[in-house]
Amino acid sequence: MSDSKPINPGDALKALLPPLALARLGALRLADGAASVVLDVSGLDALERERLELAVKEALGGAPGVKEVRVAMTADKVSRKIIAVGSGKGGVGKSTLSANLAVALARLGRKVGLVDADIYGPSQPRLMMVEGRKPAARDSKMIPIQSPYGVGVLSMGMLIEPDKAIAWRGPMASNALGQLIDADWGNTEILIVDLPPGTGDVQLTMLQRHKPAGAVIVSTPQDLALIDAKRAMQLFEQAGVPIIGMVENMAGYVCPHCGEVSDPFGSGGAEATAEQLGESFLGRIPLTITIREQSDAGTPSAAGDGPEGQAFMAIARRVATWLDNQ
Ligand SMILES: Nc1ncnc2c1ncn2[C@@H]1O[C@H](COP(=O)(O)OP(=O)(O)OP(=O)(O)O)[C@@H](O)[C@H]1O
Ligand SMILES: [Mg+2]
Repeated sequence: MSDSKPINPGDALKALLPPLALARLGALRLADGAASVVLDVSGLDALERERLELAVKEALGGAPGVKEVRVAMTADKVSRKIIAVGSGKGGVGKSTLSANLAVALARLGRKVGLVDADIYGPSQPRLMMVEGRKPAARDSKMIPIQSPYGVGVLSMGMLIEPDKAIAWRGPMASNALGQLIDADWGNTEILIVDLPPGTGDVQLTMLQRHKPAGAVIVSTPQDLALIDAKRAMQLFEQAGVPIIGMVENMAGYVCPHCGEVSDPFGSGGAEATAEQLGESFLGRIPLTITIREQSDAGTPSAAGDGPEGQAFMAIARRVATWLDNQ
């Protein structure tokens, strides 16, 4: 027997949808010439959602009885984990580590985003080769800029003119940081946040409002930097943010000519400090001209397979294991 049910106009339209949209179809109704389509976009990033929406509009746009296509999207809330990268002292390599950690985690198959929370010295646009790009917005949320390394990036530097930063007050900076963190991160699982140095407003807001899953503390091997690193760790711990571990940066200078290793800032201090405090030691990054040059060129060392890239990959593996055990 053939099906004698009257044809629902929505059902007729369904047949026009591409399989990708059909697989994600929540509801489809046609009323007064308006086709309302609800799609489940869980797990899709901003670009994929945009493509899906376009495909649906194209498929239904010219259909009989359809004057307008409205697409609504729903998604399961992704449980996103924030990793804060901090230090006590400035200039020890937080931004370098943040960029490379993000790229390395992406190479390990994680879905990673990178937020540059430094208003006074945003460095991620340069490090991640997205300089000069301004994020678009959808539903009043910013859409991260895709770097060539499979990592979405948003930076305070994309929101403000460099010479205006000095006029920013604490609450403005905190609100701007909120916009970066609550942006349209799609299916991003891990958000790396590159903090400015010290323990100012931005750091405190970060800890209070956007509760990181954990913090990575960077230090050079010098005693003074290590004292500041201890202070930063205390700040995180007091705010209830677990310390994932310490990274020692600029440990051992590798001479580009002869390969000989010397220790301008000493070496091993961070590992000893971590042990003394009962924290994990995540790894050591040497001081090399390659890291500085690759950073300046916007091609993070972790995107390649040189010794520096491998050092960052080793740290990323430890961070990934830590996250998996949460
Ligand atoms: N392991 C390294 N080898 C060589 N150069 C490095 C290394 N780590 C960082 N640098 C260089 O040192 C400088 C400071 O690094 P970076 O900007 O990452 O530090 P930071 O802690 O983020 O600084 P700030 O506190 O100003 O935000 C940069 O020029 C960077 O390229
Ligand atoms: Mg920095």
